[in-house]
Amino acid sequence: MPLPIQDATLLTAINFETGALSGQVVQKRYLSDLRGYFADEAAYAEALTHNDVLLYTVSSVEPAEGDGQMHYGLGILHPGKIGPEYFFTKGHFHTQREAAEVYVGLRGEGFMLLEHERTQESTLVAFGANQIVYVPGYTAHRTINTGTQPLAYLGIYPWNAGHDYGAIADRNFLKILIEHEGQPVLLDRDRWGDDGE
Ligand code: F6R
Ligand code: ZN
Repeated sequence: MPLPIQDATLLTAINFETGALSGQVVQKRYLSDLRGYFADEAAYAEALTHNDVLLYTVSSVEPAEGDGQMHYGLGILHPGKIGPEYFFTKGHFHTQREAAEVYVGLRGEGFMLLEHERTQESTLVAFGANQIVYVPGYTAHRTINTGTQPLAYLGIYPWNAGHDYGAIADRNFLKILIEHEGQPVLLDRDRWGDDGE
């Protein structure tokens, strides 16, 4: 016999069509919300004149606050590119820098781009359905969809992790993931434009 559910936050259903976790709002991030994030500024401006596409949605459950509590969110990142650069999430550090996060891939295929705050070391980790990525503290993290289907995942984190978008919005990640001859290739952002790309 299943235990009776006494609190609505104990059980949550995923709606892959709407991007909602039961009863929770769905935050939508459109192309226009990521102004300045993509390397190919001309391609970004051009794409925006055609369609302010939905890049991704996030729906979060915050059952309780305080020592030992966890929050989690469903992210659904759509496939596509701006110029040669794959669609990605804004990316952030946690406000509480030591807070780690567990990403559980549900559908689709792509990568997570990690960047350590102090060493500035970049790590690209394959991430998609049936794959789990542990994001350590002090590490900026961005999800990237290199597939043809939506990339859906759960992010599970301490209740007080918080989101610090400032540093990434100001200087962005040091690496970009582009499609080159049909394959994802990680490139230094500084090298962007060196050889006509
Ligand atoms: C929460 C977390 C994810 C992201 C989601 C959207 O700490 O890492 O749930 O919030 O992937 O990405 P951002 O928040 O960078 O727009
Ligand atoms: Zn996070």
